[in-house]
Amino acid sequence: MKIPLLDLNPSLNELRHEIFEAVTRVINSTRYIMGPEIEGLEKEISEYCGSSDSIGVSSGTDALLLSLMVLNVGPGDFVVTSNFSFFATAGVVARLNATPIFVDINQETFNIDPNQLRIVLTEMDEVTRKRVRAIIPVHLYGQCAEMNEILKVSKEFDIPIVEDCAQAIGAECLIDGKKKNAGSLGDFGCFSFFPSKNLGGIGDGGIITVNDPEMANLLRLKRVHGGERKYYHRVIGGNFRLDPIQAAVLRVKLPYLNKWHKQRQENASHYNKLFAESGLGGKIITPILEHSQCLHNRHIYNQYVIRAERRDELKTFLAMNEIDSEVYYPIPFHLQECFLHLGGKIGDFPVSESVAKEVLALPIFPGITEEMRQTVVTKIANFYLI
Ligand SMILES: Cc1ncc(COP(=O)(O)O)c(C=O)c1O
Repeated sequence: MKIPLLDLNPSLNELRHEIFEAVTRVINSTRYIMGPEIEGLEKEISEYCGSSDSIGVSSGTDALLLSLMVLNVGPGDFVVTSNFSFFATAGVVARLNATPIFVDINQETFNIDPNQLRIVLTEMDEVTRKRVRAIIPVHLYGQCAEMNEILKVSKEFDIPIVEDCAQAIGAECLIDGKKKNAGSLGDFGCFSFFPSKNLGGIGDGGIITVNDPEMANLLRLKRVHGGERKYYHRVIGGNFRLDPIQAAVLRVKLPYLNKWHKQRQENASHYNKLFAESGLGGKIITPILEHSQCLHNRHIYNQYVIRAERRDELKTFLAMNEIDSEVYYPIPFHLQECFLHLGGKIGDFPVSESVAKEVLALPIFPGITEEMRQTVVTKIANFYLI
């Protein structure tokens, strides 16, 4: 039995007719730039995420880039972020000629360690600290970062938060006793609609959520080259527009999102149970749900990531048995070739370095069968126990 890491067919088959209708509607409308589909999606995402405004953009990467542009991040500035994420999180900082400052992660949640974050900001010299323009926590794999503490640090040092929610639409956590959505916790929430996300388009796309109308206006302005009136440019922006075809498809999919989250959560519980019964304790670690600094998390399992002993051998063994798996991410930022000039070396960030050697994402998509999940766990057990 071949088991892919992700199969988009089950959700496509469910909605094929509606998706084709939505795409045809846009084509027939001849509104190919901006327009009602974008506005409709923005309204619906604001409702879903609990934000006052949403601004559809061209990708998750551009959501981060545009947010930093609105914060005037530029040469000589710094942005503090997790050392362990998809490249875009740090890449956007460097693209604005600012410098990323990396912080190690919590080994249980894989998210930025709030204690380390505080230490980094406290030990920094005053001149540098004054130039820290943003903190980017990443809600990695679909689980909120430890936002209670991160929000305290942000307040203490008066630094805005740009949440990287690319993998975490619909993730929730408890802040001061209240359930809050990823994207409504900090100053900007940056989402990706890359097809593999829980809410994925049929191409690239992204959105930014904010709760400040002034920021929303500025983001909208910079999304279209900073021109309020056509050909009159008050500020410099870019072409960060979301494609209406993507917006129309995403609007079809959004009402099904909670159902898909639930299926992923059920798949994760099933994996957890099978692994608990497998006698593999010590060889692998399954994802945790509750963490002392982040209670009542609603993990949306964009990825189900285990930590595994002899990870690379296990991955090869699974591939030989026609089971796909993936390493998100093999190299922490401080050891990426393009960031070596920042002086990072092996040993600087022990948690992300060891996690990068152990993480392995297993198939979790809605539509994966019980038999497939059982096969995945049986094969992993075979690898270690035989
Ligand atoms: C954590 C994280 N940040 C940013 C991005 C960038 O999103 P996009 O691929 O839509 O540009 C991704 C996409 O995979 C991501 O996983």
